[in-house]
Amino acid sequence: MSDMHLPSAAGGKIMLVGLGPGSHEHLTARARAAIAEADTVIGYVTYIRLVAELLEGKEVIKKSMTEELDRAIEAFDRARQGRKVALISSGDAGVYGMAGPTFEVLFQAGWTPESGIEVEIIPGASALNTCAALVGAPLTHDFCAISLSDLLTPWPTIARRLDAVAAADFVVALYNPKSGRRTRQIVEARRLFLRHRRPDTPVAIVKSAYRPKQRVEFTTLEKMTECDIGMLSTVLIGNSNTFVQHGLMVTPRGYHNKYDVESGATHSGEQAGRSLSTGLTGWLAGLHSSGLGAAELAALHRLPEDYIAALLAEAPTPDDTEEAAA
Ligand SMILES: C[S@@+](CC[C@H](N)C(=O)[O-])C[C@H]1O[C@@H](n2cnc3c(N)ncnc32)[C@H](O)[C@@H]1O
Repeated sequence: MSDMHLPSAAGGKIMLVGLGPGSHEHLTARARAAIAEADTVIGYVTYIRLVAELLEGKEVIKKSMTEELDRAIEAFDRARQGRKVALISSGDAGVYGMAGPTFEVLFQAGWTPESGIEVEIIPGASALNTCAALVGAPLTHDFCAISLSDLLTPWPTIARRLDAVAAADFVVALYNPKSGRRTRQIVEARRLFLRHRRPDTPVAIVKSAYRPKQRVEFTTLEKMTECDIGMLSTVLIGNSNTFVQHGLMVTPRGYHNKYDVESGATHSGEQAGRSLSTGLTGWLAGLHSSGLGAAELAALHRLPEDYIAALLAEAPTPDDTEEAAA
């Protein structure tokens, strides 16, 4: 990298551009404009190919998959020469993309937001959004993303996260599920999930979303490792309420907890526009009036005993008392 103490030419800019899934229809107007504004475009060869017709007259720097830091260093060097650089990522640049490594390189070199090189992050639809859109509505309740890549993350860290989110009943999007060399990670993910989830939990595997080789496969947690999964696949694992109907994977938002979904009538004890009777206030009231101890309540609700004990030690608020009386 160039010496940071050399003066920078004015006007340098780094644009971290998320391309979305890779089809032109899903490239945002701002992403297109950022590429048009750039003098230099840097990216992984496949992403450069995705936007090839927008690159005429520009300096194009193609890098391999593993050269993320090189891409960031190159972008910084060019920006210091006063150039406008678009660093392109698939999906969103901030989701397992170039945004993090770029800031790490910039901070390491002593860059600050005031130092004359502007940085703009241009969001794009991430694989979890685009893959979800192709299979239905799997992310309509709490979800998270876990990457199975152990190239930079120790396996015990990944395994602990898989175990925790499986137990906590999140819908999960698995990024980087499998590659030519990394074939066992998805098998271990399944093993950890099966400790907490039913074998027939719905799973959707989306490969090359919105690209010419797009493929969508529905399966179950038990059978998912038998499916065609590769570097360009995202694996969506449902929660305990997720179902598949008419070829669509849906995770209920929770309306059935409050309403009769057919008639729209509110269940007894529930009110439209108010927290559920088992929401925080109602639940606290129930804890105080249950007559049970912290250990029993902790086991009942699968929550830490010290948390329940702390709640029981606090005097019920007027709100709690009102809920208990309702
Ligand atoms: C290094 S991560 C990049 C993620 C990207 N920044 C994003 O926001 O989607 C690469 C992983 O993203 C997922 N992915 C990216 N593009 C995809 C696509 N078009 N279809 C399915 N999965 C995709 C795959 O899990 C792949 O292994």
